[in-house]
Amino acid sequence: MCGIIGINSNKPVSATIINSLKKLEYRGYDSAGMATINNGLINEVKSEGRVENLEKNSLVQNMEGTIGIGHVRWATHGLPNSINAHPHSSQNVSVVHNGIIENSTILKKFLIGKGHKFKSQTDTEVIVHLITENLKTDNIVDSIKKTLKSLHGSFALGIIFKDQPDLIVGARRGSPLAVGYGPNENYLGSDSYALKSMTNKITYLNDGEFCIIKRDHVEFFSEEGTKINKKVLKLSSTEEKYDKGDYKHFMAKEIEEQPNTIKNGINEYLDMSNKDINIYNFPWKSNEITSITLIGCGTAYHSCLMAKYWFEEITSLDVNIDIASEFRYRKNRFKKDTLYVFVSQSGETADTYAALDLCKQSGVKTCAVVNVVESSIARDSEFVLPIHCGTEIGVASTKAFLGQILILYILALKLALWRKDIEKNNFNKKIDDLKKLPKLIEQTLLIDNKIQTISNTFNEAKGSMFLGRGFSYPIALEGALKLKELSYIHAEGYPAGEMKHGPLALIEEGMPVVVLAPRDNYYKKTISNMQEVIARGAKVLLITNKSKDEVISENIWETIEVESTNEDLLPFLLTIPLQKLAYYSALKKGYDIDKPRNLAKSVTVE
Ligand code: F6R
Repeated sequence: MCGIIGINSNKPVSATIINSLKKLEYRGYDSAGMATINNGLINEVKSEGRVENLEKNSLVQNMEGTIGIGHVRWATHGLPNSINAHPHSSQNVSVVHNGIIENSTILKKFLIGKGHKFKSQTDTEVIVHLITENLKTDNIVDSIKKTLKSLHGSFALGIIFKDQPDLIVGARRGSPLAVGYGPNENYLGSDSYALKSMTNKITYLNDGEFCIIKRDHVEFFSEEGTKINKKVLKLSSTEEKYDKGDYKHFMAKEIEEQPNTIKNGINEYLDMSNKDINIYNFPWKSNEITSITLIGCGTAYHSCLMAKYWFEEITSLDVNIDIASEFRYRKNRFKKDTLYVFVSQSGETADTYAALDLCKQSGVKTCAVVNVVESSIARDSEFVLPIHCGTEIGVASTKAFLGQILILYILALKLALWRKDIEKNNFNKKIDDLKKLPKLIEQTLLIDNKIQTISNTFNEAKGSMFLGRGFSYPIALEGALKLKELSYIHAEGYPAGEMKHGPLALIEEGMPVVVLAPRDNYYKKTISNMQEVIARGAKVLLITNKSKDEVISENIWETIEVESTNEDLLPFLLTIPLQKLAYYSALKKGYDIDKPRNLAKSVTVE
């Protein structure tokens, strides 16, 4: 995680660094800091907490200098306080870092032996002292090359030097880094998003590369220190304006935007006049794929799980899913006829990227389902299916989840059609139902008041459970994840049928349990499981869909009915009340909904 910005300009940079750091807060918000060079000295200012704390710091307001680096931190080594905040500086060198230096303990020992004094508990500080040490004998390029060779682990770095006040060094291994080009100034940033307000001309560094950013030009170097040429890419759009509008939080806005998320996806991928799916330039023939493996983290993993149910139902493909952090360390048997699909909102998640990298090294087929189309995962996959849900700011993924599952559902339908696994009539019917989905989501979003009251019970409880079967099981996991990350309430998602194999022991008088039981193939079975938890004292919130048939069960605490549609699409609607439940629970607790504690929007460390 952590966000990096660097600016080399002919005008003061501190205000622009602060603005860029605000954009980067989705990468971490434990602390923030910046350093500039002015009058032959490195000035460093750091604050605990949000960028607004840094902005209010009087030292920043008076900070001069036309070259500088800034950082937002998501703590890995050392407490989230102002001492451990970046930049870390010696007298000569100042460094901002995203990643983890795995051999920092050994390096620190070596550097202390050489007389270097450490101020923080971070792994980053070793980089500062290593460069300082190497600069005693080497020029900038050689000292950087040597330093990078000594580091184990992952990093994106921004470095400034007191004695070279006209340049910023950027370097990358594992963690992403981009260079931007402006008029009489050039930039360094963790990603294009941070740079978009300043430029749409970007170069991405590849693993092992480093660069020297001067005001009027940028030089790139390979790991060996050889000069290399790199392409300048033009980003597709200029900066997207994104604010909360009349909403209190981005999350509330993003939940309400979901009908549009689905509309955008439908407009992009469905050919309504021909009842077909537009997936152009798909690089493989349908007979070249016999199985599919879906990989992601967190909510994106839940999208993969959701997709597994659909792919198995609609296609004859073998389907596997994996959590990226597990996939990358297992002994995988890569198969040429498997399509490996990487699901990610940010497209920068370190574990998902590493899993993609492994697949690329094995020469198998790779496809990305991402929101950020300029991201590393999108750039490095053979084929990309964008989610088109627009920028998602709230740390808890909402509209990106619906966007991801929509695209995966569409992919399942298209592969089924290509492979003749689905009859055209059935396919057409599913396309017609899909077209109606935005309206149904809009109607389901109206359930506000009831959920607000219900959320009180969850807030007062020690813990809660979310149960579902079949298509509803991934949604139960997602509902539990949303509640725990936003309201800090223990919540467990479970397959409804598994309760009696252990977790039933947790149920006690008054424990809130969400049961997802839409009128699908699993309905009766789930209702039986619901009765088992009610019999043990649980307060059940039943979430089902509207139907002419009454729910036959006694002692249900509360019922919420979403709109009705075909079985495949019910998961989209069931998600809505769960997102709202998490939102209102956190709102009532007064928590920071868009930036829950200990988390970051883009998880760029493993
Ligand atoms: C939870 C959430 C996270 C992300 C996960 C993967 O609400 O947002 O679990 O889904 O960190 O992130 P991406 O999708 O950017 O790869």
